Amino acid sequence: MVRPAGFFYAALMPSVPPCAIVIYGASGDLAKLKLIPALYELLREGLLPDSFALVGYSRTKMSHDEFRDRCREAVTTNARSAKSDAVDEKLLEKLCANAYYHPGGYDDLDRFDALKAFLEELDEKHGTQGNRLFYLSTPPSAFAPVVSTLGERGLIVRGDNHESWQRVIIEKPFGTDLATALELNEQLLGVLDETQIFRIDHYLGKETVQNLMVARFANSIFEPLWTYRYVDHVQITVAESVNADDRAGYYDRSGALRDMVQNHIFQLLALTAMEPPANLDAKSIRDEKVKVFRSIRPIAPREVDEHAVRGQYGPGEAGGKQTAGYKNADGVDPSSQTETFAALKVYIDNWRWNGTPFYIRTGKALKQKLSEIVVRFRQPPQTLFGKTCETPVFANDLIIRVAPEEGMTLLINGKVPGGQMQIKEVALDFNYSETFNKQPPEAYERLIHDAIVGDQTLFIRGDEAEAAWRVIDPILEGWKKHAKPPQEYEPGGWGPKASDDLLSADDRTWMHDGHDKDAVIACATHVPDELM
Ligand code: BG6
Repeated sequence: MVRPAGFFYAALMPSVPPCAIVIYGASGDLAKLKLIPALYELLREGLLPDSFALVGYSRTKMSHDEFRDRCREAVTTNARSAKSDAVDEKLLEKLCANAYYHPGGYDDLDRFDALKAFLEELDEKHGTQGNRLFYLSTPPSAFAPVVSTLGERGLIVRGDNHESWQRVIIEKPFGTDLATALELNEQLLGVLDETQIFRIDHYLGKETVQNLMVARFANSIFEPLWTYRYVDHVQITVAESVNADDRAGYYDRSGALRDMVQNHIFQLLALTAMEPPANLDAKSIRDEKVKVFRSIRPIAPREVDEHAVRGQYGPGEAGGKQTAGYKNADGVDPSSQTETFAALKVYIDNWRWNGTPFYIRTGKALKQKLSEIVVRFRQPPQTLFGKTCETPVFANDLIIRVAPEEGMTLLINGKVPGGQMQIKEVALDFNYSETFNKQPPEAYERLIHDAIVGDQTLFIRGDEAEAAWRVIDPILEGWKKHAKPPQEYEPGGWGPKASDDLLSADDRTWMHDGHDKDAVIACATHVPDELM
């Protein structure tokens, strides 16, 4: 197939095989907001196969035409390109002409059998050749039953070495603790080989997150410094201004640690901290990430308050929305201890990161949407400039920006023009959309495409999910049995005071508000002996 110069693909991209994509949970929000728009973008970029079919499956009753209308609306309102360009009506009609709907329950054997027959008809009609990608965007309780029924009714055959292939994308959350993740892995592996399981974490599909590997391993200037010798500490912030009031039913059973830390933030942590992989293939990269999780120093449940902070937003306003406070949201038990904010200090006990803290935080109803990784290098020696210069010499920061805009900034010391020796912190900036003059693709575009071509690099392996839960479980246990209750915080700020205290106990501060000068000055830290 002839492909136009894609947005993220070089000439070496594998060709995209024919296939049918079945979305379980097709009437839900994820399908409308992300999945169907992503399929349209892939079609636009020439990255969907010519022979494809889309089948929506969920419990809601709907005709094929009603589903097609939903697809049209989803694309018109939510597609990335539709925000700047007119929707390409021809392509949208092509997507709709290949789209079908098949209502059914998640345990309805007859409907699974009917789906099998229907997919075989579509093989004839659209040339999809028996290849199937099942996207499970269902409540998590349906993951195992759907997969086992797909296997039992012959919609999935184990293994990747047949004439046709069947793969399953599993949405998050992957378990709610180690025991449930182990059980889910066992259930999935009862039907599928690991090569057929694509556990999604949409953060891995974000362009900057992949750029992190390029920054680290395709440049020679960072890697030699990327160790405890030169890095003072690392901060990972994934802040959101939205509150959890509208999703309290789900959120109250989850909380920030399960919803954001075990998956998204730990993936950012692993890619920041891992060793250079032997190769860029799925096995090599995932092996290195697992090693990071296995090297994280366990947090003893009894000592949880020394390493972890939890908070809950009270009444107030964030992101232009008023809230009566988390405990007063519909569906939340007024005595709920579910955290809407979490901050951790973790150590990675390996050769590279000996003694370097990684501070991470995430929360709802905070000041702004901001996702970034800050690598704070050690303070340079003050001996030279300290004598002649009134201004301080700053520690350098490398800021990897994931949201709201994608890019990287390196903060360095520069001389202020003039007769006096004055130093100012200046930024070397790379902004993805300015440099490349285009918006980066949405994470789901990349990930759906990779699943169709069978590339698992940007998906979570089973043992990786388990290793991440092994770190989280003792914290959850500590919070349940030994910790102080969540500290209330005012919406529109940066979370509870205890989060600031976590860093100030180490003479450090969070880098609030992006490049906050005061924070940078205040953060001046230890100079290692060998650099004095
Ligand atoms: C989801 C979480 O996985 O990620 C949400 O369940 C969160 O609570 C969302 O809002 C954040 O994703 P993004 O891409 O907007 O940072």
